[in-house]
Amino acid sequence: MKNLFLIDKELTFLNFGSFGACPQEIFDDYINWQRLLEKEPVQFITVDGYDYLKKSKEPLATYINCNAEDLIFVPNPTHAFNILAKNIVLQPGDEILTTTLEYGAMDKTWEYYCEKAGAKYVRQPISLPIQSKEDFIHEFWKGYSNKTKYIFISQITSSTALILPVKEICAQAKKRGLITIVDGAHVPGHIGLNLSELQADFYTGACHKWMMTPKGCSFLYVRKEFQESLDPLIISWGFKSIAPSSSRFFDYHQFNGTRDFSAYLTVPKALEFMKKYDWDSVSTNCKNHVLECAPKLFDFFKTTPLAPLNNEFYGQICSAKIQTTEPEKLQRLLYEKYRIEIPIMRHRNDCYIRFSFQAFNEASEIDYLIQSLFHIKKETTLFSV
Ligand SMILES: Cc1ncc(COP(=O)(O)O)c(C=O)c1O
Repeated sequence: MKNLFLIDKELTFLNFGSFGACPQEIFDDYINWQRLLEKEPVQFITVDGYDYLKKSKEPLATYINCNAEDLIFVPNPTHAFNILAKNIVLQPGDEILTTTLEYGAMDKTWEYYCEKAGAKYVRQPISLPIQSKEDFIHEFWKGYSNKTKYIFISQITSSTALILPVKEICAQAKKRGLITIVDGAHVPGHIGLNLSELQADFYTGACHKWMMTPKGCSFLYVRKEFQESLDPLIISWGFKSIAPSSSRFFDYHQFNGTRDFSAYLTVPKALEFMKKYDWDSVSTNCKNHVLECAPKLFDFFKTTPLAPLNNEFYGQICSAKIQTTEPEKLQRLLYEKYRIEIPIMRHRNDCYIRFSFQAFNEASEIDYLIQSLFHIKKETTLFSV
């Protein structure tokens, strides 16, 4: 399987989660789009591009079960959340309820806009390990007050690598009259996504992680009733367009000035690739390997899983808590001396090592990681167990 990818074959690549990795076939499609663009930039960008975008969005919408008109392409989830954070109406005292497990850059975004509005970003503490879905949900709602207006939550968390019960949270939020914003950066191509069932008001996902497109390809889904109220993050020709298309949502957000949007156009090829190689089976196989390999890592660090070790909470990524004050140095050493690419992340007062399992990984690579950590432990004081 590694031969299908462009990834350096000498590496033990256990970090698919951060930026994915693009298979050769999908990358070739990307280059073809770029060549077409450079052949006739004016036609591509100002005329044909709209049709190309539409043709890329339609299969994506089918894949995640929503209406293509409710989606726009964005370069990344950060961009999507900045559109939302700029636009949502916050009165002084209003609250956005979230968890202590969210991605740091997103916390920064919400904190920035909440501070400006005199609103509060409420990070409800989540006790780890999570005992059950019900316990998580119960603890999450402890952060609710009569000032809560919005919910922001990850469907798969970043440093702790856990699948959260977002469907239940969205349904309960709706009953309380709250608006839901879901961070699905890690979801498309990783676990099943059905936006019609999920019922989130806003949802973003990255295609450049588990769907394996080139970098800079993500989407933002917005429930129809909210689309008209969103001003663009970047004001350009589509804003109050003199030649509007049938969708103001599309006009406002899709054109951000001159840029190469070829990555967006590779979605059909990525979906075709996944179908060709039966990616559902590949992914199931990887998830089984995660459940098999994870206990070895937990044993090594004398720690426990951050949630029940099953497919309800775990997909193709898994994190273990690690006792270190120098995660960056340890990550660097693993890369430079042992050629292992794996993230060791600070999250609040803790550090986590997170391995990803993709089609080209083997269980023996987790053994090699543990052997390498064993050597490092003997030779340095970079971490303790
Ligand atoms: C949970 C989560 N949300 C948001 C992001 C932001 O993604 P990007 O940097 O592509 O905008 C990430 C990145 O890994 C993430 O893990």
